[in-house]
Parts: sequence; structure tokens; C-alpha cells
Amino acid sequence: MTPLDYEYLRRLLKERSGIDLSADKQYLVESRLVPLARKSNLPGIPELVQKMKGGGAEPLTSEVVEAMTTNETFFFRDKIPFDHLKEAVLPALIHARAARRSLRIWCAASSTGQEPYSIAMCLKEMGAALSGWRTEIVATDLSQAVLEKARAGIFSQFEVQRGLPIQLLVKYFTQTGELWQLNADIRAMVQHRQLNLLQDFSHLGSFDIIFCRNVLIYFDQDTKASIFGRIAKMLEPDGVLALGAAESVVGITSAFKPYPDRRGLYCLSMAPVARAGATPHALRAVASAAR
Ligand SMILES: C[S@@+](CC[C@H](N)C(=O)[O-])C[C@H]1O[C@@H](n2cnc3c(N)ncnc32)[C@H](O)[C@@H]1O
Repeated sequence: MTPLDYEYLRRLLKERSGIDLSADKQYLVESRLVPLARKSNLPGIPELVQKMKGGGAEPLTSEVVEAMTTNETFFFRDKIPFDHLKEAVLPALIHARAARRSLRIWCAASSTGQEPYSIAMCLKEMGAALSGWRTEIVATDLSQAVLEKARAGIFSQFEVQRGLPIQLLVKYFTQTGELWQLNADIRAMVQHRQLNLLQDFSHLGSFDIIFCRNVLIYFDQDTKASIFGRIAKMLEPDGVLALGAAESVVGITSAFKPYPDRRGLYCLSMAPVARAGATPHALRAVASAAR
């Protein structure tokens, strides 16, 4: 691949997905695009670039962008945000939404589904506390390929061994040969839709909880700030945003502040701290209903 090919690919990726490759990532481009070139019956990356430049390149251009995304994910990734979800966030929201009895959750870069399905299992584990509630989990990603895998809800032995507690595996999955499929009731809790975070997403409506984890790390500061600003408009005033362990809002946006005592979680800066959590009495009441 020539330096000009690399520059072309860098610019394409930035424009189409926001992913900001540094100048030294040629090896990554080679490892991900050489197999795609072969699959497209092209000798290598220069010919792939030539074909895209020649116009009429769809779906090739989308395939190139998708091949360059990093889809690493696993069940209950980082564990702590899911503990917070069960112990504090859901009890507080169940208390706050007692009249409305509905919850909307958005998982904004959901990859192959482990993250939205972990959230779905957390909701299911709340038991009676959420019985009769309308709960909606919207899982979105740029890549059609990962969404297809997520919709099927079929995972390898390796994938279910990463982060998923054995009790939940036994309770919510069915084994077929070497694969495990999530049971239909958990799959049905999640709607999967293609969505590019660079584009307008206000049509999704407002949410009580937004997970946007391990995707903003690939974007430059301006792109992160724009996404945070638009996410802030979609979060309910007492809603919660979850970011990845290596991500933060510091120095990027003033729209969010850390959720008190809950690492990885953020609330709107305008939200009074007291509204980010329920009273200890309310938390105890919801927790005992969940048992
Ligand atoms: C590393 S995975 C993170 C998955 C999951 N959130 C987690 O933390 O385990 C990043 C995901 O972001 C998606 N992605 C990359 N750029 C995107 C964009 N502009 N819009 C939406 N999704 C994007 C990729 O397709 C990939 O599935």
C-alpha cells in the first residue's frame, strides 16, 4: 500500500465513521483489508482503493469501513457498571418511574450484542420489581455484520466464557452443539438497528439510561464533544450515561458530571445530585421486591 493509499483510507474512515487512525496504523489496515480485497477478487489494497476511487463502489466502501471497526466486546464487560446498574441505577429509576412503569435504555455501539444482552439479563434479574413494566432496549451499531450476529444471539463457548456468570448461562441460554443461543425472551427484549453516531440520532427519542462504551475512544475531541452534546439532549433529566473504563467526559464536555460514587457512570450536569439516586429507604424497598 502506498502512502497515498493509506491517506485515502484514513480520510475515508474518518469521514464515514469518525474513527481517527493515527499515522502509524498501516499494519492494522493491512491485516483487516487484505482479506477483504481477496474476498472481493482483488490482488491487494492498492486495487481496492482504485476500485473505490473509480466510483460506484458501494457496497465495497461500506465493507471497507466495517472491516476497519474494532468490535471487541464481552458479556458484563468491566463488571462494575453492571453492578451499579443492579444496585443503584435500576432501583433509583424504578422508584422514580413508579407511576409511569416504563424504562428506555439505549446501547449506542452494541457490537455483537453481549452488552445489550447483559443489560437485558440485569433487567430480567430484577424480577418482580419490573413485572408489568414496559422496558425497551435499543441496540445500535454502524456495522450491519455485527448487528446480524447480535440478532441471532448465538455465541461460541469462548464468548460465553468471557464475563458471563455460569448461573446466567444456564438460566438464559440453550446449548446447541458447541454453540449457545440466548433464549427467545431475552433476545426479544433488545431491538437492533443500524445507526452511525456521526449522523443525527434524535429520532430515537429520550432514554433513562444510555450506554456508549468503548467507541468514543476512536474519535477525535470535536467528534466526541458533538456526540456528548447530542446524547445529553436525549437523556432524561435524572437519567444515567455509562462510558467505558478508559473513557471520561473530562476536558471534552460540561454537559455531564460523574454520578456520585459510581465509577464509569455520569449524569447530566444540570441534574441535582439528589435526583441521581433514590433515598436509602426507597432503594431497600425496590431491592426487597426484586428478591
Ligand atoms: C469496541 S466495540 C464496543 C462494544 C461495546 N460497547 C463494549 O463496550 O463492549 C465498538 C463498536 O463501535 C462501533 N462503531 C464504530 N464507529 C461507529 C459509529 N460512527 N457509529 C456507530 N457505531 C460505531 C463498531 O462497529 C463496534 O462494534
